[in-house]
Amino acid sequence: MTAIDKFIESCPKAELHLHIEGSLEPELMMKLAKRNHVAIPFTSVEDIRAAYEFENLQSFLDIYYQGAAVLLKEEDFYDLTMDYLKKCQQESIRHVEIFFDPQTHTDRGGAFETCFQGIQKALQEGRESMGISGGLILCFLRHLSEDEAMKTLDMALPYKDQLLAVGLDSSEQGHPPEKFSRVFAKARDEGLRTVAHAGEEGPASYIWQAIEDLKVQRIDHGVRCLEDAKLVSYLKDKQIPLTVCPLSNIKLRVFDRMADHNLKELMNQGLMVMINSDDPAYFGGYLNQNFKAVADSLDLGIEDLAVLAKNSFTSAFMSAEEKARYQKDIDALVESMN
Ligand code: HPA
Ligand code: ZN
Repeated sequence: MTAIDKFIESCPKAELHLHIEGSLEPELMMKLAKRNHVAIPFTSVEDIRAAYEFENLQSFLDIYYQGAAVLLKEEDFYDLTMDYLKKCQQESIRHVEIFFDPQTHTDRGGAFETCFQGIQKALQEGRESMGISGGLILCFLRHLSEDEAMKTLDMALPYKDQLLAVGLDSSEQGHPPEKFSRVFAKARDEGLRTVAHAGEEGPASYIWQAIEDLKVQRIDHGVRCLEDAKLVSYLKDKQIPLTVCPLSNIKLRVFDRMADHNLKELMNQGLMVMINSDDPAYFGGYLNQNFKAVADSLDLGIEDLAVLAKNSFTSAFMSAEEKARYQKDIDALVESMN
């Protein structure tokens, strides 16, 4: 094993951009399809994997929502989340902020509580038996209406103390952040933090809208910010985190090849960026695979990777003491490798 690989595998990390439905591995999809008697248009795990060739965000979302249809019961969400947390344990991920899309499940007749409690139960166990901290970020599906998002928020408000934030995902083009200004204003009035996917496929102006209209604390993806110099200087001044997802960006053709990814440029511009896996079951790798891919293709060394790992804690919704503790551990690991 190379020194870089060893560093990646043992370095403490936080993951801030992970859709729990996107961690559904083909094996579990098959198992749940059988267990719940849900028909899926695949006959084998290989069949499912072979379908994962995407043209853009929408072509992925079509398959991703279809896959999520096997998730029906609380134990399904528990199993899904436990599988992800076990991966975290193997990959030295110490803190997770997990996105979930309740509308994907409530639109099929499921109760909000079913998905919420199933994920929370696993998170609780992860905290106790694996020492992994974290929580949930409720995402609104932006291809659906403002009214539907508002109803989802109302459904979740009784549990607001158990949410880290609300977010915004799904089809970006044609669904600008401003469409959800009132929903996010209400969430903020209720004391919730906000984040939003912006500038993945959509233009830099969507990142401005997420900041100005939704008053987000972090931008998810945000890689198209480099198209607007004024925006870059704003993001740098305020150190607004961008949760970058390299393998996702290649699979969804935001960049042609990893060597073309702008992560290094974002770092050179002084932006607060870190690495995440987005939908690892669909994009060919969990967090450490993302680290390895950028290290290889963008020629990043241990010092650069340590900055990315430290940024993940800096950007996390956790206490200053906890952040400092992990950052000290990362410094000590770098030191031990010199
Ligand atoms: N972008 C938008 N919506 C999503 C994504 C993404 O990368 N993954 C899951 N839902
Ligand atoms: Zn995402």
